[in-house]
Parts: sequence; C-alpha cells; structure tokens
Amino acid sequence: MDKDFPFSRPKGVEPPAEYKELRSKCPVAPGRLFDGSKIWLISRHKELKEVLQDGRFSKVRTLPGFPELSPGGKAAAQSGNAATFVDMDPPEHTKYRGMVWPYLTPEAVEQLRPSIQAKADKLVDAMIARGGPLDLNEAFSMPLPFRVIYDFIGIPEADFAYLSANVAVRSSGSSNAKDAAAAADDLVKYMDNLVAEKERNPTGKDLISELVTKQLRPGHMTREQLVQTAFLMLVAGNATVATQINLGVISLLQHPDQLAAMKADPARLVPAATEEICRFHTGSSYALRRLAVADVQVDGQLVKKGEGIIALNQSANRDESVFPDPDRFDIHRQSNPQQVGFGYGTHVCVAEWLARAEIQVAIGTLFRRLPNLRLAVPESQIQYSDPARDVGLAALPVTW
Ligand code: HEM
Repeated sequence: MDKDFPFSRPKGVEPPAEYKELRSKCPVAPGRLFDGSKIWLISRHKELKEVLQDGRFSKVRTLPGFPELSPGGKAAAQSGNAATFVDMDPPEHTKYRGMVWPYLTPEAVEQLRPSIQAKADKLVDAMIARGGPLDLNEAFSMPLPFRVIYDFIGIPEADFAYLSANVAVRSSGSSNAKDAAAAADDLVKYMDNLVAEKERNPTGKDLISELVTKQLRPGHMTREQLVQTAFLMLVAGNATVATQINLGVISLLQHPDQLAAMKADPARLVPAATEEICRFHTGSSYALRRLAVADVQVDGQLVKKGEGIIALNQSANRDESVFPDPDRFDIHRQSNPQQVGFGYGTHVCVAEWLARAEIQVAIGTLFRRLPNLRLAVPESQIQYSDPARDVGLAALPVTW
C-alpha cells in the first residue's frame, strides 16, 4: 500500500515516525499525494545526494506530473509568472542562479557580517529597552533576516513596515488564500515600482542596482525576470531563518551544558551549534521535489519517466549511518558538514552562507548580551506549527 504523504510529526519538533521505518525498510518508497498522484519518497542520506545531483530529475514545476503538496501549490505552479531559477533546470538554471550567487558567496557574506551584527545589536537594545517578557519571534528572530534582506535587495527603510506587513499576510498559515494571493500581488507590484526607480538611478550597492547595470541593461535578463528574482529573494527563506533561530534558542536552553560550552568558546561552537540546529530541525523539509524526465534506477528501484520524487532531507538529517545517535541534539558532532538542511547539489540553497551567518550572529548575540535568557512560559505551552507542515512556531515568549 502506498503511504499518503505528507506524514505528521507525532509531537513538537519530532520528525514523522515513518521516516525511521522507511530508512531501514524501504529507502525508495511509493507514496501518494493529495490528488492521488504517485510519488517516490527518498529517505536516506546516500540516495538523497544521488538524486539531487542527477540531471534526469527536473525542477521545472510547470511540467505535467510535477509533485505538488496542495491545490494551492498546483495553482502557484501554473500562475504564468516568469519562472525564477528555483524552478529551472541547467543550463538555464546555471545562468540565472549565477547572476545572484556572486553576492552570496562565503566571501561576500563575510563582508555583510558587520552589518548583520549591527542589526542584531540594535534589536537586542530595543528588547532591553522594552523589558521582558516578550515574543522573541516578533522582537528579534523575524526582523533580523528581513532587515538583512531589505538592505541586500536595496529596499528603502521608509518601506520596511509596509513590506513586513504584506510578507506576514502572504506567509501566514492563518491568512486565507485570497488575502495571501492579494498580498503577494501587492509585493510584486511594489518590486516592479522599485525596479523602475532603480532603472532610472542604479547607484546603490544593492542587488537590484547591480542586476540593472550588469544583467538588465546588457539584455541578459528581462525586466519581469528581475522583478521576480528580487521578489524571490524577499520571500524565499527569511521565515525559515527565523524558525531556526527560535528553535535553536529552545534547543540550547534545553541543553544547559552545551549552552555553557558554547558561551565559553563561541568562535568554535557558535558555528557548530548553527550546523546542528540546521540538521536537527531541518526548517525546510518539503522543498526537494523533482520530476523524473527519464527512467532512473534509484537503489535498485525503477522510478519511471513522469513520476515525482520527494527527497526527505529531514529524514536524511536523522540517518543513523551518517549521524550517530541522530535524535540527540549535540553541538559537538563531527559529521555535521554532511547535514542537508539547505538541500544538496544543483539547487542547494543559494543563500545558505547568508542564512548561516544570520543564525550564528543571532544565537551568539542573544546569549552573550542576555546571559539569563530563558522561556517565559512552560515549554509545554509553546505552540508548534501544523504537524504535517514544516516545523515552526508562531510565538516564543522569553524573558531574561
Ligand atoms: C535556515 C534558512 C534556510 C533554509 C533551511 C533553506 C533551505 C533551502 C533548501 C532546502 C533549498 C533547496 C530547494 C531544492 O533543492 O529544491 C533552498 C533553495 C533556495 N533558497 Fe534557501 N533556505 C534558507 C534560507 C534562505 C534565504 C534567507 C534565502 C534568500 C534570501 C533563500 C533562498 C533560496 C533560493 C533562491 C533557493 C533556490 C536555489 C536554486 O534553485 O538554485 N534561502 N533553500
């Protein structure tokens, strides 16, 4: 019997129990989506890496049979907007991804680190001025990545509040589909105007100005593609960064010995803790969907042309053959460079180094500046997201 997918987390942040069973018994397992279509679930680290660098699996979402998890996903796939590199295959993907990558390399992100630090410090100053208890998500974890990306894209400060409100409606699980679509339309219109402004005066040291001069003017990219790319960078991963900060704070508070070790040796253990947070919590766990465009054997199982696959990075991040005692949160792990929270291969998160730097600055700064940071409610009162969706939480009450 094919299993209905997605599965549910049994409680809190625990991954679905089915993952462990699939890893040991059926690493390439048949599953069924909401619309009845058949998919293959790839649950182990080894095969996940294989399929994510295999050109016979496509990411073009408009192809018939591409696996979508909900009717909303299907509608979005067919929206008719210009595709961005997320939904392209090489060589097109390589060309457009290459236009933003120079600004997101490890070296480029190191240049941004002082400004990420200044933003984190300013947010902590405001928290101290307000006094606890307060919601860490609202006061720190969400505004940090958004302010970083606003500067990166080139959004004027006067527009921050308007944009944040729209992004919140677009991304909130409690908004209805019509409100969310209207908010997304408003955001694209906003980006369109901003691009028009920067076309007249592309003098800033920001992504839109750079793309206008280096890609749009020489004719390497259309105006609509530029607008969609800026929009993508605005909405792609900031909420996920916030989730990793929130869940990281909770995990570190749950392990006071590890927290003490991190505080004593931040240069080494803040990056290590960040990697473990991204492994243990795997904030983006349904993105690695692909369509077979040829017959492919995966671990001896035939995946036929036209069938979808989902590479389960949340499961691969708990693969016992790669991460000993995988259900233990442990910032001292040696095997962490293998974690696949940012995906793997061709489409690996283009902003992975930026996201890492943000999480590192966030947890480093919070525990240094607020040494008594703690939850302001019993842990049992924390409300986690819908168990069949990416792990997250709506609010994180803290005090210090
Ligand atoms: C902790 C935070 C983040 C996590 C866990 C995460 C996770 C991921 C994953 C798993 C993928 C691979 C999708 C696939 O292969 O199908 C991905 C791709 C991507 N991410 Fe992130 N992401 C994060 C932060 C960000 C941020 C902050 C941005 C933008 C500023 C971003 C932009 C993107 C883009 C544009 C892609 C598509 C890359 C491509 O198709 O080549 N992500 N991310």
